[in-house]
This record gives sequence, C-alpha cells and structure tokens, in this order.
Amino acid sequence: MPRGLFISFEGIDGVGKSTQVKLLAEYLGEAGREVTLTREPGGTELGDSIREILLHSKGHIDARAEALLYAADRAQHVALEIEPALAAGCDVITDRYLDSSVAYQGAGRELGHDEVRALSLFAVKGLLPNLTVLLDLSVDQAAARLAGTELDRLESEKAEFFEAVRQGFLSLAAAEPNRWLVLDASLPPAEIAAAIRTRVASLI
Ligand code: TYD
Repeated sequence: MPRGLFISFEGIDGVGKSTQVKLLAEYLGEAGREVTLTREPGGTELGDSIREILLHSKGHIDARAEALLYAADRAQHVALEIEPALAAGCDVITDRYLDSSVAYQGAGRELGHDEVRALSLFAVKGLLPNLTVLLDLSVDQAAARLAGTELDRLESEKAEFFEAVRQGFLSLAAAEPNRWLVLDASLPPAEIAAAIRTRVASLI
C-alpha cells in the first residue's frame, strides 16, 4: 500500500485556509483518493481539550508553556491520526502543522526558530509534510477579514506579533522551496485553488 500524501496549510489568522483546505479535499476526493481532513490545535480528543486551553484560557499562558502545549497536541495528532492514516494510504490535509509553531512561538513569541523546530520535530518523530501551502496576506488585510468575528486568545495579539509571524512563515518557505508553495491570499479563491491543484497533481 503506497503511503498517502501529507499536505499542510499555513498562514496568519484570517487568510482563508479553511476554504482552500475544503476545496483541495474535494479535488482529491473527486480524483478517487481517500482523504483525511484535520487541524491543529485539535484533531484528537486530547487535542480538543488542549485547543480549548490554548484559545480560550482567560489567564496568562507563559510562552514556553504555550509552545509545549502546541507540541503535545501535535504529538498526539501524529501518533493517533496522521501517521495511521498515511500508512493506510489516505491523503492527509491538515489546517496548520509544525511550521505554525515555528512562526507563532518561534518568531511571534521570540522563542527562537531552532528551539521550537527541534521541539516539534521531537513531537512528530521527524514527520514533515510532502507539501506545505502558505497563504500569504498582509497583516492589515488579514485583520480586516477577521473584523466583526469574536477573536480568540491568539487572534487578539497586536499587529507587530502577526507581522513577525508572517515574516517567520516567509523565511521558512524561502529556506525549503521544494516543500512550500507560497500563494497570494488576496487572489480570488478559485485562482488560489487552481494553483494548489496544479502543484498537488504533480505529486500524485
Ligand atoms: P486556527 O485553528 O487557525 O484558528 P481558527 O479556528 O480561529 O481559524 O488556529 C488557532 C490559533 O493557534 C491560531 O491563532 C494560530 C495558533 N497556533 C500557534 O500559535 N501555534 C501552533 O503551533 C498552531 C498549530 C497554531
């Protein structure tokens, strides 16, 4: 049984990842492939509890505690969901994966790229996606898209935080161009979806 494809979507809050995740799942399904759709934080029962703490805790969460909680969520997610699905030949599409930690905790919280990446790689036993799609958008445009929605703990951060996170993603993509596809998230959704399909088709 050939392993499934592992694809992650990344970007700052408000760039439209969930729309593109769904469109890609539809495309792969129509191509006759088994697809598992998932997300971080969350994706497992333990992950849902960790997600609740991370996004809705009222008290302060120390940056290192935050990084460890995301890593714990990810370890459980890979062990219980992602790895078994890939081994069974299913494609796995995840809305966020370890690059979110490197960008948000490493760059945004200034814990350091190398430290946070090493922590995440430990959590996932080195499992990296075949493809990571970065939906890139200016901080102002992303904030405008979130306007009017109820903001969670992370979404309530200041513009400088998101600027650091955005730059963190862009430098990760520049360092590993074979794994990443960077797209302008201000383009029409259908155009973005078509670019993603073209890249994914080259992998299957
Ligand atoms: P997300 O599910 O994208 O939020 P929403 O459901 O509101 O669209 O992600 C939740 C938040 O967690 C988001 O602000 C990014 C943040 N995050 C990190 O800071 N580090 C991580 O490792 C991950 C996976 C997410």
